[in-house]
Amino acid sequence: MNELISLIIPTHNERDNITPLLERLECALSGYNYEAIFIDDNSADGTAKMIASLASKYPVKLIVRKDKRGLASAVVDGLSHISGKIITVMDADLQHPPEIIPNLLKEIEAGANTVIASRYVKGGSCPGWRLSRKLNSRGAIFLAHLLLPATRQISDPMSGFFMFKKGVLTGANLEPLGYKILLEILAAGNFKRVAEVPFAFGSRNDGKSKLNAGQQIAYLRHLFNLMKRTGELTRFFKFALVGASGIGVNEGLYWLLTRLTSLVGSLDIWAVVISTETSVITNFILNNYFTFADRSQPGLKSFLKRLLRFNLVSLVGISITVGMFYILTRFFGVQEPYDLLALLTGITMAMLWNYLANNWWTWKP
Ligand code: GDD
Ligand code: MN
Repeated sequence: MNELISLIIPTHNERDNITPLLERLECALSGYNYEAIFIDDNSADGTAKMIASLASKYPVKLIVRKDKRGLASAVVDGLSHISGKIITVMDADLQHPPEIIPNLLKEIEAGANTVIASRYVKGGSCPGWRLSRKLNSRGAIFLAHLLLPATRQISDPMSGFFMFKKGVLTGANLEPLGYKILLEILAAGNFKRVAEVPFAFGSRNDGKSKLNAGQQIAYLRHLFNLMKRTGELTRFFKFALVGASGIGVNEGLYWLLTRLTSLVGSLDIWAVVISTETSVITNFILNNYFTFADRSQPGLKSFLKRLLRFNLVSLVGISITVGMFYILTRFFGVQEPYDLLALLTGITMAMLWNYLANNWWTWKP
């Protein structure tokens, strides 16, 4: 393969990692045509000097930014300096082994336009991680899968090591924030086929990780921002709107049944059951053709399957409302008039549950 590969490598205080990185790249990519573009955020340890001193020996480009603006934004800046049509993003600290780049390329040659070096497909790993970091990583991925359905097929959407064809970014409006540049590209880019290649996340020998609590908060903001941009937040509001209409149906039908028919007295419980189930059905229909219209599936069978799932989810939702109400009033002694708030707490939790479970299961993308 003769195509030029543009490597984008953000650096912040990585001086002692540069030489081994370039040596290993040279070895791993012998026979390939590549350029290593370093985006340094004004490292105090002389990283930029080190890179510049190696520019006669290796195909290196160096961009130094005056202030530290973050990993994701460094990658996006790097994109305006590429000459190739195949782009690889990787860390400078050798935690991303250059030796697997040819494996990534193989997938591109086989037709993928985005390839992720993944810690979580079979064969991948993060040796030596503390339990807390493992949980953190898994938790972050779970949240992305939950809130950004487009990432659900990907086992490691947080990887900082990936390759893609330039076309993936055509028309994409990247708004880098924090660390997770791949997530941004997956949400905003127009990739068609994503492949994942396993790798073992190396340990750091020199320098320090810059991942801190601030980055975690930035991640949550980034997720929220992506939910807005991908329409997932709108979906949530549509779901809430449908839920509100369901309350109207429920109350209205109950009123009709108890006031206009003879279903009164001890039979009013049947009016509750009938009107509640009716509102579950109208909610389902509205969600099917409005909230989740983009996930429509033809056929009566799938309609009924979804209706059944929606009913089961709603049943759990009702239990959450009642259970929450019970706990708050019986164990925490919440009393009138705050029982209304206790009920609202239950309703809100059930609503969240309903939204997430239906998004995940009933209208599985
Ligand atoms: N230019 C620039 N600006 N580079 C930065 C900045 C910054 O503000 N912050 C970090 N970097 C560079 C580092 O010098 C390193 O080359 C790379 O970005 C990764 O930074 P680390 O601080 O080593 O990150 P990490 O090892 O904790 O996190 C890595 O693994 C995560 C998955 O667990 C990264 O690859 C993440 O992207 C990835 O999500
Ligand atoms: Mn690292």
